[in-house]
Amino acid sequence: MKVNLKKANEDDKKFLFDLRNKDYVYKNSGTPRMVEWQEHINWLERVFSGQANKYLFVIEVDRERAGQVRFDIELENKQAIVNISLLKKFHGKGIAKEAIEQGIDKMAKEKEIKKFIAEIHQDNTASQKLFEKLGFVFQSQDDIWRTYLKKYV
Ligand SMILES: CC(C)(COP(=O)(O)OP(=O)(O)OC[C@H]1O[C@@H](n2cnc3c(N)ncnc32)[C@H](O)[C@@H]1OP(=O)(O)O)[C@@H](O)C(=O)NCCC(=O)NCCS
Repeated sequence: MKVNLKKANEDDKKFLFDLRNKDYVYKNSGTPRMVEWQEHINWLERVFSGQANKYLFVIEVDRERAGQVRFDIELENKQAIVNISLLKKFHGKGIAKEAIEQGIDKMAKEKEIKKFIAEIHQDNTASQKLFEKLGFVFQSQDDIWRTYLKKYV
């Protein structure tokens, strides 16, 4: 099984739309509802243009699209927020861990990012376990979100 990160492009619009609108994905996101096609396209155009400071990758498994991983960058603080989702059939195979490791390495080397942050819904046990396995350390919690941090060394 080969896991590869590919910079997202125009050809991935529909895949990313369908993934974003799976209930098991949006219920764990900051905007916990489905999005309309046009809203999605407007958002993606900002990502592709670089204005949004988001680096979006499609996760491929043996060349098949399996999910996405995104780094929202704050260059002035050399930090990035990590967001990941996989289609259900790819869960539980270690793919998310491998994809995040590759992405962290890329962002650290190419963008000099030193701190990686995950903001995880308090009920999202799978994601909390995933990030802990990756060496992220719990920092704080509000009434919905738990924040985790990993320093790149
Ligand atoms: C988060 C996500 C990418 C993890 O995918 P994955 O790599 O396949 O992770 P796994 O299914 O192996 O689960 C990770 C761990 O959580 C555990 N887990 C999975 N589902 C669980 C559940 N419902 N309750 C408790 N633990 C659970 C697994 O057993 C595993 O722990 P282990 O390694 O100790 O066995 C995937 O669940 C997903 O795409 N979810 C929807 C989007 C999302 O929540 N993204 C995260 C936003 S921060």
